[in-house]
Amino acid sequence: MNSNFNPLSPEELVSRINKIPRIRLAQLPTVLEYAPNISNELNINLYIKRDDCTALAFGGNKTRHLEFIMAKTLSGEYDCILTGAASQSNFCRQAVAAANKLNLESYLVLMHGVKGKLMQGNFLLYNILGANVDVVDGENLEDIPKHLDKKYDELIKEGRKPLIIYGGFGEEDTTLAGISYANTMAEIDKQMKNQNFIADHLFVTAANMTQAGCELGARVLNWSTRIQGISPVYWDMNIKEDIARICNQGAKMLDLNLEFNSTMINHDNNYVGEKYGVPTKDGIAAMNLLAKKEGLFLDPVYTSKGFAALIDYVKKGIIKKGENVIFILTGGSPAVFAYNEELSKKI
Ligand SMILES: Cc1ncc(COP(=O)(O)O)c(C=O)c1O
Repeated sequence: MNSNFNPLSPEELVSRINKIPRIRLAQLPTVLEYAPNISNELNINLYIKRDDCTALAFGGNKTRHLEFIMAKTLSGEYDCILTGAASQSNFCRQAVAAANKLNLESYLVLMHGVKGKLMQGNFLLYNILGANVDVVDGENLEDIPKHLDKKYDELIKEGRKPLIIYGGFGEEDTTLAGISYANTMAEIDKQMKNQNFIADHLFVTAANMTQAGCELGARVLNWSTRIQGISPVYWDMNIKEDIARICNQGAKMLDLNLEFNSTMINHDNNYVGEKYGVPTKDGIAAMNLLAKKEGLFLDPVYTSKGFAALIDYVKKGIIKKGENVIFILTGGSPAVFAYNEELSKKI
């Protein structure tokens, strides 16, 4: 299977990606930064891909996704966007900011989850950005599509023309978001060559689409690197199958003769802790360590759990002394302000 697949150069991959409709929202490429102090501490060579600095509304991985997902608004047939996630959603923050730039109103339907209507962090930013926000009871993120569909019907009755964005639950949205991360891998490929190293491991905190894009890019570019996704959430769905599905759809959209299945995907949900949205002790320790050593902020919901996993993989010897590791810092730092109580406790 796929034995006749000829890897692409990063330029060839980017030229295929550039055929897909896109609006420019991010400042790219983001920097791939060597982190000397934490490298010393962990006895590895750690490079951080600064996707917290994509430049839109405090940045993050979702800016890249939205460049492709929101290209549909170029048709002029929409007067607003409708999307949803957890109440402290980084995706929604960046989506509303993007919509504002495109002169579209925003409607958010948010799961109450752990932080509800707390006017802090991302929730405060939706307010400043001027989004119309509904908070619904519950915390199961898999209920979001059903709430979005209900709100969509209401908006249609009011004569609105919403672009409904299902994000991680939409077939097309996940494919486009995945492709935006295949593009990131092309950036990293060039950056590794310029900095003269090959990564042994790449870590990404991922619910589904961001990891899928990394997997797709790594295969297309023929990397030897082990891609490791760390989950911020326990899903009811089979997440490895979902990631493989996104990879397959991305490959099809890019006209690549590649096939993925769930056995190819390394995705670890042992660092979620109690549940999505509740910080872990090890995650907070990881946040404090990276801030202390490098002046960098992880976030309490996603990247702190991803970085705690990276540290644990070093301790367990899965990452070996002297190996080259890339950690994609996917953003999320505004959420620290909604977690001031948890983050100010002594651990
Ligand atoms: C900071 C941060 N990191 C990682 C992720 C996971 O991204 P994905 O859902 O594309 O896998 C998210 C998603 O909400 C996020 O906000």
